[in-house]
Amino acid sequence: MSQILPILKAGSPLLYQQAKAVTFPLTPETLAHARHMIATLKNTDGLALAAPQVGIPLQMLVINIPQTAPAKRYDFSSDPDHKAFPLTVLVNPTLSHLSEEKIDGWESCLSFPGYRGKVSRHRSLQCDWFDLDGKPQSQKCDGFNARVIQHEFDHLHGTVYVERIKDFSTFTFI
Ligand code: NI
Repeated sequence: MSQILPILKAGSPLLYQQAKAVTFPLTPETLAHARHMIATLKNTDGLALAAPQVGIPLQMLVINIPQTAPAKRYDFSSDPDHKAFPLTVLVNPTLSHLSEEKIDGWESCLSFPGYRGKVSRHRSLQCDWFDLDGKPQSQKCDGFNARVIQHEFDHLHGTVYVERIKDFSTFTFI
């Protein structure tokens, strides 16, 4: 059975704390967390969820980016090469080969509902992680998907996108 978990909102202390690395083999409790995170993400119009956002202080993400934008607040048009990133649980993700080039783009967050802001992110990167069986996985990403991964990676290290907005006049109601 999976549950829909409440999503922590701006001001919750867990959003600003470093999450712990997950150890393998996963405990039944951590596997249940992963199931609940999937159910919780599917219950929103969001594209990704980090464990700290649902009160779990572990380095675990769920990403589910479709080919076409699921809601108006997402603009895939700035990324003509956009490809889906199908439903994946990423345990202990790390980022490398971050491009020198950074691009500005809109971000929003389930923990800051109703708002968006412009953030500068690396255009491309490689993400390495472990799947739920403890097998290493790797994916090169660019554009919109690279942006989502950097946003989620930040959540695991206590940073929210709002802290990265340089021009605060872009922090706006959707
Ligand atoms: Ni977020």
